[in-house]
Amino acid sequence: MRLDKFLSDCGVGTRSQVKKDIREGRVCVNGEICRSPETKISPDSDAVSLQGRLLGYSRFEYYMLNKPAGCVCAARDNLHPTIFDWIPMNPRKDLAAVGRLDLDTEGLLLVTNDGALSHRLLSPRHHVNKLYEARVSGWLTEEDTASFAKGIDIGDEKQTLPAELMIVESGEESFCRVTIHEGRYHQIKRMFHSLGKEVLWLKRLQMGTFVLDEKLAPGEWRRLNERELEDVEKYKSGHL
Ligand code: URA
Repeated sequence: MRLDKFLSDCGVGTRSQVKKDIREGRVCVNGEICRSPETKISPDSDAVSLQGRLLGYSRFEYYMLNKPAGCVCAARDNLHPTIFDWIPMNPRKDLAAVGRLDLDTEGLLLVTNDGALSHRLLSPRHHVNKLYEARVSGWLTEEDTASFAKGIDIGDEKQTLPAELMIVESGEESFCRVTIHEGRYHQIKRMFHSLGKEVLWLKRLQMGTFVLDEKLAPGEWRRLNERELEDVEKYKSGHL
């Protein structure tokens, strides 16, 4: 593989940025400065470093995106921007969102190529909790909280699992937090709809132990940090 392609696939810069890094002597192959971008390297056996930092393909990538409203969670879409317009680093084209948020839903979205993690977090068997905040039309009452706690008939074969509704403000428009333990299509909107209310705005704050980083503005992302990567391992090994 060409050295410049390897570097850009590692996510350290665009093809033209990494060519500049190489020509200006910032890249070493097996300890020697290499100034030619077309040099062929073997990603498995050659040690490539940029400014002293050893690079390599890591098998799995994990990102947290604060998904903005107005983009879809698919890889391609004819009508709307996709999350990959915000997370442009997808060199191997194998990243996918861990579950989908609706076009107009904002907030926490994990994006990874680790199918085992996705499966663990999404599998209906595991009931991983998802916390949302929502603005809805109409007054919310203790009866609504009780309906969420019992489970709601949203027109599927089975009613929803018990969920928690915490009313923050009740009025002609109400504000609340909702925790669900499954992930059906448009679930929160359909739960409120069944109670005669409409969701006006929806944002996911948490999925399992992964909490939306409040420093991320809509459209911003970061890689998972060390503590979150420990949780990834715990989920995969059944310790969470
Ligand atoms: N429930 C919904 O209705 N929409 C989402 O995007 C997520 C949960």
